[in-house]
Amino acid sequence: MSRPFVSVFIAQSLDGHIAREDGAIDWLDCVSMPGEDYGYQAFHEQVDTLVIGRKTYDTVLGFPEWPFDGKRVAVLTHRGIAPRHGERAHAGALAPLLASLHAEGARHVYLDGGMAIRQGLAENVVDEMILSTVPVLLGRGRPLFDGSVPASTWDLVDSRAYASGLVRNTWRARDLPPA
Ligand SMILES: NC(=O)c1ccc[n+]([C@@H]2O[C@H](COP(=O)([O-])OP(=O)(O)OC[C@H]3O[C@@H](n4cnc5c(N)ncnc54)[C@H](OP(=O)(O)O)[C@@H]3O)[C@@H](O)[C@H]2O)c1
Repeated sequence: MSRPFVSVFIAQSLDGHIAREDGAIDWLDCVSMPGEDYGYQAFHEQVDTLVIGRKTYDTVLGFPEWPFDGKRVAVLTHRGIAPRHGERAHAGALAPLLASLHAEGARHVYLDGGMAIRQGLAENVVDEMILSTVPVLLGRGRPLFDGSVPASTWDLVDSRAYASGLVRNTWRARDLPPA
């Protein structure tokens, strides 16, 4: 089944959390520097489609502006959504969603949200993970990985350390069928 290339681009704390227990991401401020986006805009320009978990979607809806103009957006949720930007809802396995997005022309998907990413890993459909580690311990929070993630091996294809202490590593899945 053909599918788009699937990338993850996410920031995690030193202890592997992507948000506080209440969903807050204020701790990302500790690496905020004028004019430095840690490669986010360049990455964003490469993707044509987003597949995001409902909690990430709800966070994004609280932003002053919709950040995904011009991209297809699929929201993973068991509940209805009130689309204001052409986004669609999807429940269940990612593989059929990716196949149908591919048939529509999607070639590079940005998979975002902790649970959404874990589902992609469980289905073996994540090709690339760009993980930025932020120099803060949260203690408690929402994890990026948990016991639901199957074992897999990744190749480090890029690594960059920034003056702020953030380290961005790009990992490519080994032994995954080509997208
Ligand atoms: N650090 C970062 O760079 C970064 C990046 C992105 C997000 N975040 C933060 O991380 C938090 C969100 O991550 P998260 O792991 O809590 O949640 P998430 O993955 O964004 O969303 C989880 C929700 O998505 C729905 N869902 C997921 N997979 C599904 C499937 N296959 N079918 C149907 N529904 C599915 C479920 O919602 P329902 O069943 O309730 O519909 C589930 O509760 C937010 O606080 C966000 O701000 C941080």
